[in-house]
Amino acid sequence: MLELSQEASDELWRTVVDLIAAHPARLAEGRATPEALDAAAVRALVEGFDLEQPLPPAQAVQRVAEGLYRHQVHPPHPRYFGLFNPAATEAGVAGDALAAVFNPNVAAWSHSPFATEVEQRLIREIGGLFGWPPEIVEGTFTAGGMEANHSAVLAALTEKFPAFRGQGLRGLTADPVFYVSAECHHSFHRAARMCGLGTVGVRPVRADESLRLDPAELERRIEADRGQGRAPFLVVGTAGTTNAGAVDPLEEIGAIARRHGLWFHVDAAWAGAAALVPELRALLAGVERADSLTVDAHKWFSAPMGAGVFLTQRKGSLEKAFSEQNPYMPREAGAAAGVDQYQRGLQWSRRFFGLKLWLSLLLHGWEGYRQAVRRMTELGERLETGLRERGWRILNRTPLPIVCFVPADTDDPAALEAIRDQVFRSGEAWISTTRLRGDQPALRACVTNFRTSEADIDRLLDSLDAARRQKPLDAGTAAVVK
Ligand SMILES: Cc1ncc(COP(=O)(O)O)c(C=O)c1O
Repeated sequence: MLELSQEASDELWRTVVDLIAAHPARLAEGRATPEALDAAAVRALVEGFDLEQPLPPAQAVQRVAEGLYRHQVHPPHPRYFGLFNPAATEAGVAGDALAAVFNPNVAAWSHSPFATEVEQRLIREIGGLFGWPPEIVEGTFTAGGMEANHSAVLAALTEKFPAFRGQGLRGLTADPVFYVSAECHHSFHRAARMCGLGTVGVRPVRADESLRLDPAELERRIEADRGQGRAPFLVVGTAGTTNAGAVDPLEEIGAIARRHGLWFHVDAAWAGAAALVPELRALLAGVERADSLTVDAHKWFSAPMGAGVFLTQRKGSLEKAFSEQNPYMPREAGAAAGVDQYQRGLQWSRRFFGLKLWLSLLLHGWEGYRQAVRRMTELGERLETGLRERGWRILNRTPLPIVCFVPADTDDPAALEAIRDQVFRSGEAWISTTRLRGDQPALRACVTNFRTSEADIDRLLDSLDAARRQKPLDAGTAAVVK
């Protein structure tokens, strides 16, 4: 049935453990990107597995691993300069495996008191990084930033409109709207739809020259909406935009939110880890007065995907939004029970997301993380300086390790895509293209990996130069796709 013989079990674990141990070194020697995005080849490979013919463990693992090696962009590669998907710490990987083995259901305290208390400690610790007092901070681990931001919209709706929990939007007498930077992450648009607000419920506020939300414009928009009978309830500040690492003026936004009685959420999904480093902490000034916060462990805290965190300083607001009475959940601990986490978040049965961060912290301490964040920040500076020296034009300004840039002589989107595709084809690195302010084309590179070295930055610079030289040849041929 589903049990392995001792021999097969030994073979499985030997193969997996050998593969995991060798992975970082093997990856660093190879390509950061697949040879091609070849849909026919990858589908044929997957269809080639016969699910009626069980394989010996080593063969099964090796065939899967080869599929993954050949057919993915590799976020753990030291020259993956990507969207913020991390290289996971080894301890994080081990923590994730342990979570699967013990498989605690971190829904009810009575079922998983150790796992729950570990996550609650982490919630207090992470809140503490932002100056939040441990006795008031509440929160929950989520699958990622999307779920955390969705939780923020739900918590704010429930808190600001008492009828919302029972009646939903039909209990509201005016149209609820909330405010984000035009540069915010698109999870808020999706959250608005999932909360029944529709995308019209999201009011994108113009960003200034530095790509930061313009507070004067925010206040004007709130007043205009109020004047037209709408019901503003939430303002989001982004600390570290996805595109360009801009940090909105959180103090000013928070003051506006308080003046107008709105919930103030900070989306610090990736840049929240900057709070660890004294020289970066000032960037986040104002976060200490936020009502809620998104921070992803699976971004700059280098945990394997998925691990996000949603925190609030409004005690009881999570239960107000998420609690549900039922007769079947475990209650053996009675009144001695701690937090039942299913009462505080969107998930019910839930994986022990926090363990990958916890085990990593046990091995490295906050100091290990502090050093990693500092190092990646320095490498971001090296990248920016190198690009300038080699005649690229930098389009963003941030102390965070993310650079948006174009060649000095063009920002033609087709030329930028050709450079991106050439870097992809070379296998040397992965970078992306984006648009700043909705319309300004840019190449984008972000240091996301604590294993990235100076030499990796220099190799990226060389491959960008090579791609720029080839540009006229390849412009417009998105030949990474077969
Ligand atoms: C600022 C910001 N917020 C939210 C998210 C969404 O997080 P996730 O991908 O973990 O759902 C991202 C993802 O990159 C992000 O950069």
